[in-house]
Amino acid sequence: MIVAQGELSMQANRIVITHPGPPSVLRYEQHDVAAPGRGEVLIRQTAIGLNYIDIQHRTGRYPLPHYPSPIGMEGAGVIAAIGSDVAAFKPGDRVVYSSLPIGAYADVRLMPADRLVPLPAAISDELAAGIFTKGITAHYLIFTTFPIKRGDTILVHAAAGGVGLILCQWAKHLGATVIGTVGTEQKAAIARAHGCDTAIVYTRQDFVDAVAQLTHGKGVAAVFDSVGKDTFEKSLRCLAPRGLLVSFGTASGPIAPFDVFELNRLDSLYLTSPAFVTHTRDRTELLARAGALFGAVASGFIEMSIARRYPLNQAVQAHEDLQARRTTGVSVLVP
Ligand SMILES: NC(=O)c1ccc[n+]([C@@H]2O[C@H](COP(=O)([O-])OP(=O)(O)OC[C@H]3O[C@@H](n4cnc5c(N)ncnc54)[C@H](OP(=O)(O)O)[C@@H]3O)[C@@H](O)[C@H]2O)c1
Repeated sequence: MIVAQGELSMQANRIVITHPGPPSVLRYEQHDVAAPGRGEVLIRQTAIGLNYIDIQHRTGRYPLPHYPSPIGMEGAGVIAAIGSDVAAFKPGDRVVYSSLPIGAYADVRLMPADRLVPLPAAISDELAAGIFTKGITAHYLIFTTFPIKRGDTILVHAAAGGVGLILCQWAKHLGATVIGTVGTEQKAAIARAHGCDTAIVYTRQDFVDAVAQLTHGKGVAAVFDSVGKDTFEKSLRCLAPRGLLVSFGTASGPIAPFDVFELNRLDSLYLTSPAFVTHTRDRTELLARAGALFGAVASGFIEMSIARRYPLNQAVQAHEDLQARRTTGVSVLVP
């Protein structure tokens, strides 16, 4: 496709939200996409990552700058056209991204070239869109936030979720003992098949007691908590002295205000709340993390498949399923 800069290039389909709200606010619409400007590329997307952050954007928990707003942070596809000053990519290149500007729920879109990562032939577009955000998150959590050492015992909440399945396999590969929590027996089996030594069904069993029993009262070196409101306080009570609580998501809701002195009282604990953007802002760092993720998949110690595929115009159903805890692993929207 050859399009002149600044010209209207084509009609495309996307999902927008007019205001924060339930899944039904997701609206499928046609709109015009301009030709790529300076430093931009036009991507014909083949797969779009479904992420919990999309729910946080849709509900307004993470407010969007304006409404109506497009939605979605992650996609993969083929470059259809490039703007001026784009040297690193050419039409026909396969790419993946997880980044602002928001608007991944679309069949065609513009993106700044410096946020794109080239896709190796061995990784399909669908798999890339499924694992990129979640795999890079898992990577920074266990290599930067809490560098895992052989012999560490860790606790991972939502272990059968997207980030969870990748994190558990990677931590296991690094020599950790991995305890996971999951909502159902079916999810427990999936977690165990993906690196979890033990999967606690925390909807039925108190996970603080279970962790105490499994670690002979010692507690774990780190808890990776993406559930938030429902697990935060109990997660602290699972830690060994000087252990680290990594609070990286709030799927169950925002965490109640917290007295920092609790960390002292509970034996000198550490607490952090890391963000994806901090760990991918620098392009060299982004490419290094992406390379590590693709390498881990190629080596076979991270095995992921697409659990659910939703046509783009069924984003409402995708959001309902993710929010109702019906999904496991990674899912994609397909334009
Ligand atoms: N900080 C970062 O850099 C970063 C980056 C990426 C993702 N995240 C966060 O990491 C988490 C995982 O993301 P993901 O896309 O892979 O999602 P996911 O883990 O596949 O889905 C969320 C899971 O959370 C669990 N959950 C527990 N209570 C819940 C509730 N009340 N409502 C909904 N879900 C609940 C469910 O698993 P069970 O049924 O097994 O409990 C559910 O399947 C999210 O919180 C996301 O915001 C953070």
